[in-house]
Amino acid sequence: MAATAGSPTTSPIGRDTPRVEGPLKVTGKAQYTSDFHFPGLLYAVPVGATIANGRILELDTASAEKMPGVRAIFHRANIGKIFRSTLQPNFQGVCEERRPPFEDDIIRYYGQYIALAVADTFETAKAAADVVRATYAAEKPNVETHLEADDDPDEVDTTFGPRHRLDSQRGDVDAAFASAPVKLDQTYVTPSETHNPLETHATTAMWDGAMLTLYESSQGVVNLRNVLAQMFDLPNENVRVITKFVGSGFGSKLWPWTLCPLAAAAARQLGKPVRLVLPRKMMFHAVGHRPRTQQRVRIGATPEGKLISLQHDYIYQRSMLDAHHEDCGEATPFHYSVPNLRVTFGRAKRNIGGGADMRGPGAVPGLYATESAMNEMAYQLKIDPVKFRIINEPKIDEGLRLPFSSRHLLECFELGTEKFGWSRRNPVVGSMKRDGVTLGWGMAGCAWIAARFPAAATVELRADGTVRVACATQDIGTGTYTNLAQLASHRTGVPLDKVEVALGDTSLPEGPTSGGSLATASIVPAVLAAADNAIASLMTIATGMTGSRFENRQPDDLAFSDGVIFVKADGPANGVPFDEILRRANLRLATGSGKAEATFGNPKPKFSTHSFGCHFAEVTWQPEIARLRVSRVVTVIDAGKILNTLAGRNQIQGAVVMGIGMALLEHTSYDPQNGAPINSSLADYIVAVNADSPPIDVYFLDYPDKEINEVGARGIGEIGLAGIAAAITAAVHHATGVRVRELPVKIEDLLA
Ligand code: MOS
Repeated sequence: MAATAGSPTTSPIGRDTPRVEGPLKVTGKAQYTSDFHFPGLLYAVPVGATIANGRILELDTASAEKMPGVRAIFHRANIGKIFRSTLQPNFQGVCEERRPPFEDDIIRYYGQYIALAVADTFETAKAAADVVRATYAAEKPNVETHLEADDDPDEVDTTFGPRHRLDSQRGDVDAAFASAPVKLDQTYVTPSETHNPLETHATTAMWDGAMLTLYESSQGVVNLRNVLAQMFDLPNENVRVITKFVGSGFGSKLWPWTLCPLAAAAARQLGKPVRLVLPRKMMFHAVGHRPRTQQRVRIGATPEGKLISLQHDYIYQRSMLDAHHEDCGEATPFHYSVPNLRVTFGRAKRNIGGGADMRGPGAVPGLYATESAMNEMAYQLKIDPVKFRIINEPKIDEGLRLPFSSRHLLECFELGTEKFGWSRRNPVVGSMKRDGVTLGWGMAGCAWIAARFPAAATVELRADGTVRVACATQDIGTGTYTNLAQLASHRTGVPLDKVEVALGDTSLPEGPTSGGSLATASIVPAVLAAADNAIASLMTIATGMTGSRFENRQPDDLAFSDGVIFVKADGPANGVPFDEILRRANLRLATGSGKAEATFGNPKPKFSTHSFGCHFAEVTWQPEIARLRVSRVVTVIDAGKILNTLAGRNQIQGAVVMGIGMALLEHTSYDPQNGAPINSSLADYIVAVNADSPPIDVYFLDYPDKEINEVGARGIGEIGLAGIAAAITAAVHHATGVRVRELPVKIEDLLA
């Protein structure tokens, strides 16, 4: 019925739209996972291993069990059966740490859960967890920061299935590099980084017979349900996951971690709801981190700046059992035109918890390396870095040998250079000054994949004139509530304040995981189809209504626009509001379902679909007090249609702030003695905050990408973090003359 459904005269799509759930959040009415209370609720606190490699010999729980108010101390002998989960079709059943908690007595990383204290209050549970004593046979942990690739087979198993370690190859890269007139061969290092969303991981599990309900801070309720159903041997419909508000996740809450089955198993044993909220320190142990990477980049070029060869060989650290793949080479094969290319990866096992997706997994560390190498090569060639990129702009995706669905990177450069004032740059190191400080100007490009997960949604037109849109996706703070409302409003013409959004509950139609910047693109076709079907159903109701002006008309004779149904031939002026039709028919609502298939993982795509952009960064440097600051950033993003330009700019600004942290602050250090993350608090793990954030000007190009969905929205959650660290380190070089190739940039690097 798409042809008869009309857009409202004032669609909220593409406009600055304040978040529809904003008032709930700023008045404290929004309920986050640990805000839900239940009668008989018990509190759980995990006990983490204090070694990173070895075996538990003995676990002494006696004094903990005797404490008043303690309900149980769970461990391997009394937790009950928990199965392993496996990968299922449609990107379901995904889990980065497959070993169920307490499965064996082997300790593979510091902080691995060895017991769980459950008590009447959080304080008692914490006190009990603190007195559980373990005796270990400890061995020296391997947390070595220098990475050498393990002796892996050519094809390795990863979280999403098998991957060949030869990622991409074309031409004869060895010969091309050997004979290239200008060469660069450098290695770039990115550290382990730990996700630190404001809301720590939280779960509340409760059983009603064979029904398991979980309140969880999750980026993917449907996947979490499917994993937990496997772990507790339940049909999917016996598990319900509820996630109404999330205090962000950055990827740490994408896939389930072991705290969740622990809470569920404890609740099963005790017959009471059990809540487990991770303390900040435990955020550094068993809920993922961005793995450390070491990336060798070799570039061959002509003196005129044409790329001849590009090699990207990366190694990342992984845990002892798990197979998170840090896909650093994701953007390498398509980002530039180069006839000879090879991308390979290796892995190095460490006694560290499971790695995980962290905002822009793979491409963010990957583009830091390749964009840094491009900047260094431009400097070597004495060619402006923007011009160097323009010279090597590809016409098609040379990796997949496919056209791009939509790529406007050159226009991003054009707008970015103009807004930043790049033409005033003097390329001589240390040559630019302002108010007594030295300026450094750097830039880099960025890219991020665009695709859709499968999604379903329902739209209801209701007799009180409101609309309800429902989808089992979740809003992790990125604006999904608002996007769903905008889409429903766009299609029905009902204003935003009359649209109710239901999400974050597996009892709703299955929606996408909030990951990979894919959620927005995924919900567009499902919600629009659902709205069309609701409108179609309304037309059938109208034509079947005795005495109505639509009686004896065919549904095809009718049209719908701005909430009004009318005879096409008569025009909308003689239309009837939908709620009036429903009331006259004595119906509560007209409902429609919509569904759309995935494009992510399509083995035979017709286009290469990505978002693109660039960052221009200014740093100030005061050598006399060794003070380095990022003072100004201009970012231009080509991400198709931006559904909500207000939340969209905010999303990119947030990513740039995180990128300042990536460039200058963030890193997790592991103690070589016991393998513990050393800086495991927000006082010691430094993230960029408001005081670190300069003016960040964000511009969007507006080229709807109709290959991805009819609105043309590709998604913007991650791209803003790609490339920014390379732009900042280039600016640091421009100001100081120091090339830093291991993040974060430290003051010591600049004093050398
Ligand atoms: Mo993002 S790392 O896909 O949550």
